[in-house]
Amino acid sequence: MAVLDHKGDKLDIRIMKQVPKVIFGRGSFKKLPEVLSDYRSDGYIIFFVDHAHKKTGIVDQIPAEKDDLVFVIDTTSHEPKTDQVDELRDGILKTKKGNLPALIIGIGGGSAMDISKAVSIMLTNEGSSKLYQGWDLVKNAPIRKMGIPTLSGAGTEASRTTVLSAVDKKYGINSDQSMFDIVMMDPDLLDNVPEGQKFFTGMDCFIHGVEASEGSYINTFGSAYAKQSIELCTKVFMKQGGTNDDLMVASFLGGASVTNSEAGVVHAMSYGISLVLGYRHGLANCIVFRQLEEFYPKHVPVFFKMLELNNIKLPDGVTKKVNKEEMAVMTKMTYRMARPLTSALGENWKDILTEEKIASLYAKM
Ligand SMILES: [Fe+2]
Repeated sequence: MAVLDHKGDKLDIRIMKQVPKVIFGRGSFKKLPEVLSDYRSDGYIIFFVDHAHKKTGIVDQIPAEKDDLVFVIDTTSHEPKTDQVDELRDGILKTKKGNLPALIIGIGGGSAMDISKAVSIMLTNEGSSKLYQGWDLVKNAPIRKMGIPTLSGAGTEASRTTVLSAVDKKYGINSDQSMFDIVMMDPDLLDNVPEGQKFFTGMDCFIHGVEASEGSYINTFGSAYAKQSIELCTKVFMKQGGTNDDLMVASFLGGASVTNSEAGVVHAMSYGISLVLGYRHGLANCIVFRQLEEFYPKHVPVFFKMLELNNIKLPDGVTKKVNKEEMAVMTKMTYRMARPLTSALGENWKDILTEEKIASLYAKM
């Protein structure tokens, strides 16, 4: 019997890492100093916080002490990049003369949390973060890390991936070493999220559930996570009385569902859109998803209803000005996503998703 360990074989047994410690509830962020007191004796703490929290006041509430480092990360212009992570790592080692932190904390949406995950790995692994993009390439155990989501949907808080963009690819460090050791989920932190951003990031979550549950890599664990995540997302975005508590849990379960299954055609194609056209992940997924009814016939009509109920208008003709070379980069990016595409379409996915088919789908977007 084969054992499935995220190396791509057909497996009957799976070994899944889960987040070992979750702190959930309104007001938990105020308890952060107490939680950190358990780690203080082991050294200093690094905080990565999304720059949006200069405005919300969260930056001022960070319980940093004298030796700690606080990085305010600008996530407006781009999603996390390999060069950015390498520079942060080098800067920290220089400032602290090689002394490693006791804990790294990411506070924000997927980007700030992904940066914290990547730096935790890169502080103990040599070379560029580019070397670890792929499946199970991380050699050394990372620094302990904690995620505090302030935007819900990407599922970064529960996933075993750390998505980074390099010049020619957007790709995850897919590894158990990418997973957080602690996640603090305080639904109060979602109160200031603008509605549009909440929708697009929330749809990332909905799509995780859809792709995980429709893919052949799904098992009973993943299916249970995906089902509950989709149900909570539906409650929120079909306007059935869903709350920020629901969205926060949906995001976590959506991340866990992908960890226990795989993404699918939407993510495989949306990475190309983000890489070449710079659209952020949630919006890029939406641009792709609405054209994929043939692959997800049950869920795309629900998505259209959600767009309508939430007064969201997606941009049209985003690929209109894409030239031949750029289309080649987008197609190549899609072809790199063999695992999600195998899960979604089977071993012979290249016969279904031919280069012509990919180009024709992109052309519709
Ligand atoms: Fe995603």
